[in-house]
Amino acid sequence: MSQRNIVIEPDPILRKKSENLEKVDDELKKLMDDMLETMYAAPGIGLAAVQIGILKRLIVIDISKKDEKKDPLFLINPEIISKSNNTSTYEEGCLSLPGHFAEIERPAECQVSYLDYNGKKKKITAKGLLSTCIQHEVDHLNGILFIDYLSKLKKDMIIKKLIKHRKELKKIVL
Ligand code: NI
Repeated sequence: MSQRNIVIEPDPILRKKSENLEKVDDELKKLMDDMLETMYAAPGIGLAAVQIGILKRLIVIDISKKDEKKDPLFLINPEIISKSNNTSTYEEGCLSLPGHFAEIERPAECQVSYLDYNGKKKKITAKGLLSTCIQHEVDHLNGILFIDYLSKLKKDMIIKKLIKHRKELKKIVL
């Protein structure tokens, strides 16, 4: 396994739509292993392939707590089949938007179908944090970031700060 670089906003690739995967083979499993390692190291609880620069419909999630056993979830070609009318609000962050958080309201439950690590068809009903996490990651596959749900003013401010931070990092490297 190896860690990959995470793409930081603003970057045009984060706005592109990811494509479905045709088959689950060893190469894909290696990519999923790398994504999981990258996510754990960050650390984060969810990562979409586009965030390491790969435009494929692939997500890794692990919402287990620090002191709990690791519980990775791999979703290949995930499809949200239904969403509840009731909503829940979480303060969301994103590995592609380091240091920025905002309260986002989303459907509290969602039903999702996908292929698992071994290519087997699965369907789950996600609630609470897992529901929010899946929706956040599926958004990534469609080129959507959580800041898109904020006012233009707030969104522009976050992007401006990320650009400024990137420039500062470059200065240190030089
Ligand atoms: Ni994210």
